[in-house]
Amino acid sequence: MIVTIDGPAGAGKSSIAHQVASELGFEFLDTGAMYRAATLAALRAGVDLQDSEKLAEFVSRIDLRWRDRAIWLGTEDVSALIRTPDVTDAIRYLADVPAVRARLSELQRNIATGRDIVTEGRDQGAEVFPNAECKIFLTASAEERAKRRMRQLADSGRYLSLEEVLRSQNQRDLEDQTREVGRLRAADDAIIVQTDGMSPEQVLDHIVHLVRSKVGK
Ligand code: DC
Repeated sequence: MIVTIDGPAGAGKSSIAHQVASELGFEFLDTGAMYRAATLAALRAGVDLQDSEKLAEFVSRIDLRWRDRAIWLGTEDVSALIRTPDVTDAIRYLADVPAVRARLSELQRNIATGRDIVTEGRDQGAEVFPNAECKIFLTASAEERAKRRMRQLADSGRYLSLEEVLRSQNQRDLEDQTREVGRLRAADDAIIVQTDGMSPEQVLDHIVHLVRSKVGK
């Protein structure tokens, strides 16, 4: 049984997907972490980010694993290291390459095979798991997402203005929506959940209810 949760940066997908999985007793897959870890590996190896062929070849042989809700390069848990601005800024070079996406999509399907899983990303319902039993598209207005992100950053001691957060968020939205393959979009059969004005608890309750009514759990 597969539940997909897609949506733009800052919509709160990760924490919601994580909690929905726990509520249902499903496994959880963060596909953004896979793009991030592949990017970290390419940066470390000094691969030319402008060279799509080299990137595709490099990604075809990295040892990328998802285990215990963490992302690994070989035996190294890189879950914390993938959250730096350097990695975030470079992801698009990999995410724009169709052969890189094909490789990561293949890994995602392998991870999901035979499992009950909640998988979270940009292209999960529309491209990677077109036959998923339940597809959610989680979104919120740009301003609401930026305000949430600002609060998150402030909690970790980084104080940015709303304008600064909005500027980089708009840039990511544009990149996510315009890539030729795997762009951010709701699958035709996705349920769209617009979360402006809802608390995290309300969003969680709403989605668990939706998923239960779809998958009968
Ligand atoms: O969800 P996140 O911020 O960790 O994702 C990081 C980037 O990875 C995002 O800007 C686009 C890319 N991504 C993707 O192209 N496809 C996915 N399924 C997940 C993430």
